[in-house]
Amino acid sequence: MATLKETLLAKIQEHRPRTQKLVKEHADVKIGEVTIGQAIGGARGVRMLVTDISYLDPFEGIRFRGKTIPETFAALPKVPKSEYPYVEAFWWFLLTGEVPTEQQTLEVVTDFQSRRAVPAYVGDMLRAMARDTHPMTMFSAAILSMQRESLFVKRYNEGMKKDEHWEPTYEDATNLLAKLPSVAAMIYRLKYKDDKQIPADPKLDFGGNFAHQMGFPKPYDDVARMYFILHSDHESGNVSAHTTHLVASALSDVYYALSAGINGLAGPLHGLANQEVLRWIMKFQEKLGGKEPTEENVKQALWDTLKAGQVIPGYGHAVLRKTDPRYIAQMEFCQKNLPNDPLFKLVNMIYKVAPGVLTEHGKTKNPWPNVDAQSGVIQWYYGLKEWDFYTVLFGVGRAIGVLANTTWDRALGYAIERPKSVTTKMLEDVASQAIKADDLGAD
Ligand SMILES: CC(C)(COP(=O)(O)OP(=O)(O)OC[C@H]1O[C@@H](n2cnc3c(N)ncnc32)[C@H](O)[C@@H]1OP(=O)(O)O)[C@@H](O)C(=O)NCCC(=O)NCCS
Repeated sequence: MATLKETLLAKIQEHRPRTQKLVKEHADVKIGEVTIGQAIGGARGVRMLVTDISYLDPFEGIRFRGKTIPETFAALPKVPKSEYPYVEAFWWFLLTGEVPTEQQTLEVVTDFQSRRAVPAYVGDMLRAMARDTHPMTMFSAAILSMQRESLFVKRYNEGMKKDEHWEPTYEDATNLLAKLPSVAAMIYRLKYKDDKQIPADPKLDFGGNFAHQMGFPKPYDDVARMYFILHSDHESGNVSAHTTHLVASALSDVYYALSAGINGLAGPLHGLANQEVLRWIMKFQEKLGGKEPTEENVKQALWDTLKAGQVIPGYGHAVLRKTDPRYIAQMEFCQKNLPNDPLFKLVNMIYKVAPGVLTEHGKTKNPWPNVDAQSGVIQWYYGLKEWDFYTVLFGVGRAIGVLANTTWDRALGYAIERPKSVTTKMLEDVASQAIKADDLGAD
């Protein structure tokens, strides 16, 4: 039976000639053009990144290796007595594009278990930080502190060949990923549970051990598996994925690259929105002062936020133009497991009202909810009420996607990223030339 690494190598060898042919024979073929609006407006819609790991259709939402979210959940081997697949099976799937067998999955589970131990200096460093440091700062610092473990750096310094780059990157990525649930749980218990740490259970899988070290009983293990898989990858252009890719393109190792990506995820327009959703809801309930939420007072609160010049967290998206299927997957989980939860009911009420309000407001291109609008409700229900920790959960999940991508970036030898900038004067000149050309056309 081929191991994950052997299967991955075969896939890399199969894929390399495709990329080489495109670069050698078709490098000048245009795949888009860039407007002034795009140059100033965050490169929205500019086609300039390549990944085969996931693809985001504006109307259908994400597909991982060609599969929708429900197809992905259905295809992968499940943990016994659980409804959700092993994260380790998903890692295999993202890396190779193939669904692993039960036996192959268990081999990855064992491999992850053997790489799970977090170096003692990580705990020492976290304990030395101010206790009110944001958990995302701690998470990023913990990842960065482990950079000294990088095998890529060691091999690079020994003079490794370019076509070998993927191999220590894969090792670094697996070593780092296997530790992340324990690192996250350590931060959680350090900050919110008087540093009463729970040792890892060597028999458990990625999601199961995370729930165990957090101190949450079943079905939180399944919540964790679902959450990590849903948040893993959303193609390459989002801030956390793109940052990780960009930093890694300088051949910085995955510790440097992921830490940077996590810093991007910590922004309120990106991953931090899930904590902002909970904060918005709690403020809203406080204002109601015990009154029942109604569609009318929800509408009023949404308008108050918009009129104050703030965004409605959890709504809108740079690419999506319909309800995020990651939102729907979590909504279906809630319908099944917590249908009468008051917070879930309130989130549903917001879902009923907010798209209309945002449409009437007339600014956002997408008035529908994204993944962050729903995720906090589930965490809250199962007892994880410290919402400033929510983005760390997102970060553990996002690591799966970006680390798989970085491994492939190295396998295909993607170049150091270096887009070209222009000056405002250059844009003004191009714009006036375009006006002149238009005027000539009109004559
Ligand atoms: C996700 C997000 C950053 C995408 O930004 P974008 O691609 O620039 O979105 P749009 O093109 O639709 O933005 C056009 C305008 O609508 C506004 N807009 C977008 N989403 C909005 C929201 N949820 N509430 C209020 N206004 C919003 C933008 O701020 C922008 O206003 P401006 O012209 O004054 O700058 C944006 O929708 C947002 O801020 N959402 C809330 C935060 C969030 O949930 N983030 C998680 C994303 S997964």
